[in-house]
Amino acid sequence: MNDMIIRTENAAKSYTTGTVTTHALRGVTLGIPPGSFTCIVGPSGHGKSTLMHLIGGLDRPSEGSVFLDGCEISTLDNSNMAKLRAQKIGFVFQFFNLLQSLTAAENVEIAMMLAGIPEKEQASRALKLLALVGLAEKADAKPSQLSGGQQQRVAIARALANDPAILLMDEPTGNLDSAAEGEILAILRSLHAVGKTIVIVTHNDEIAKTAENIIRVMDGRVLS
Ligand SMILES: Nc1ncnc2c1ncn2[C@@H]1O[C@H](COP(=O)(O)OP(=O)(O)OP(=O)(O)O)[C@@H](O)[C@H]1O
Ligand SMILES: [Mg+2]
Repeated sequence: MNDMIIRTENAAKSYTTGTVTTHALRGVTLGIPPGSFTCIVGPSGHGKSTLMHLIGGLDRPSEGSVFLDGCEISTLDNSNMAKLRAQKIGFVFQFFNLLQSLTAAENVEIAMMLAGIPEKEQASRALKLLALVGLAEKADAKPSQLSGGQQQRVAIARALANDPAILLMDEPTGNLDSAAEGEILAILRSLHAVGKTIVIVTHNDEIAKTAENIIRVMDGRVLS
């Protein structure tokens, strides 16, 4: 288990709103090997995004532990958690989450600023990453001038800004048509081929079929 790049031990998460407590995750133990292509699947509302937020250090478990590269992240304070996240993890979300007032290139550069990549390297590195996702000619476009698939490719370039070992994606093709989805999948496969650890929450069978690892989440638990 110690050679896993991501690991959880009895990780649980409850949310309390007023008098109602929701047990979103009920004690999950899992390991994700480095360099693997893993899909997290399961019905809506059963805890997939919650699990993703815990393993990405966006949130802390109510109980149990989460380890990233052997380091227990569930006990880090906010600032150390943010630092570790910036170094090791790139996130891609269903709704792209690009900053609308910035160009494609600037959206990628902003992620580099947060991780302290020297300013003079930021612009050239952003262009390289946009070229990698096939968008070199759209570097100066604002998100509103891009298609959904193109916006998602900018989001992937942004996720790669700091050359993270791990890419965590929550329904990255949920809002795309099948052509755009195919393009995104091809990019993910090429990233997997160069050794990135890819973890995707998806409802899409085509993506899940290509995974090396499938984690099935059901009612806050992981089915083995
Ligand atoms: N911030 C929150 N506050 C209260 N309840 C929450 C919160 N986030 C999630 N939940 C609840 O936790 C449960 C799991 O939610 P989660 O978002 O992990 O589901 P999911 O499997 O990602 O679903 P989907 O496929 O629809 O995205 C749901 O019942 C949800 O309503
Ligand atoms: Mg979700």
